[in-house]
Amino acid sequence: MILRQFNYSRIKVETTESTNELLAEYKKSHSIQNGAVLTTENQTKGKGQSGNKWISEPGQNLTLSIFINNRIPNNKLFYLNIISALAIHKTLDDIKISSKIKWPNDIIVNHKKIAGILVENQIQGSQSIHTIVGIGLNVNQKGFEEAINATSIINELNIDFDKEEILSQLYQYLDFYLNLLVDNNYKTLEHLYLKQLYKVNETNHFEDSTGVFQGEIIGITENGLLNIQLSNGKRKSYDIQEIKYIQ
Ligand code: BTN
Repeated sequence: MILRQFNYSRIKVETTESTNELLAEYKKSHSIQNGAVLTTENQTKGKGQSGNKWISEPGQNLTLSIFINNRIPNNKLFYLNIISALAIHKTLDDIKISSKIKWPNDIIVNHKKIAGILVENQIQGSQSIHTIVGIGLNVNQKGFEEAINATSIINELNIDFDKEEILSQLYQYLDFYLNLLVDNNYKTLEHLYLKQLYKVNETNHFEDSTGVFQGEIIGITENGLLNIQLSNGKRKSYDIQEIKYIQ
């Protein structure tokens, strides 16, 4: 394993409410290294973005949190979402699953969600002092509630995968992309992200506080807002709470 920023250390727990919460709690009383990974077989109260829940069948999937202590300027924090999404995308690509990144950082395969990311930054002044990247990646779970519109590696490939192998790839790719971020390769990361962005440069329906409208995703702002060109030619940027995709 070639590591650039990370020092591998592993914390395994059988059950916890949320790996993000537990890692944040653990950090208060232990010194943890950059790249420490906390995994659980049974996450009972997984947190999603915007107050949503993350539900994962015990023993089947990857539910993990990785500790990052590189200091990232506040106006570049979205790049932590970008590198996490790219790491999952690349891990799936290696096993021949073609995925897209649905802004800001859902990973989509055949229009279904296979992975979600929750990035939690601790900020001091103008930069982060540490970050917890929480990742839920569906590996061997076969059944999902219809409303969730989810899929998994086994559902896509019909192959039972070793979660540890997937984790090892994911970990190395996160380290690789973090290294690009630490070296200020913002343009490269943005380019890689936009190349994999779901529905980019396609006309689509969205909903904001004014109702449903047609527009085209044309990119993201430096702070990670979604840039949409409306059908009247005007451009608008949206934060995560402000816009919904309509299929
Ligand atoms: C989302 O898609 O809304 C983000 C989901 C993030 C889920 C992961 S599972 C491991 C980590 N611990 C949590 O409580 N949440 C994240």
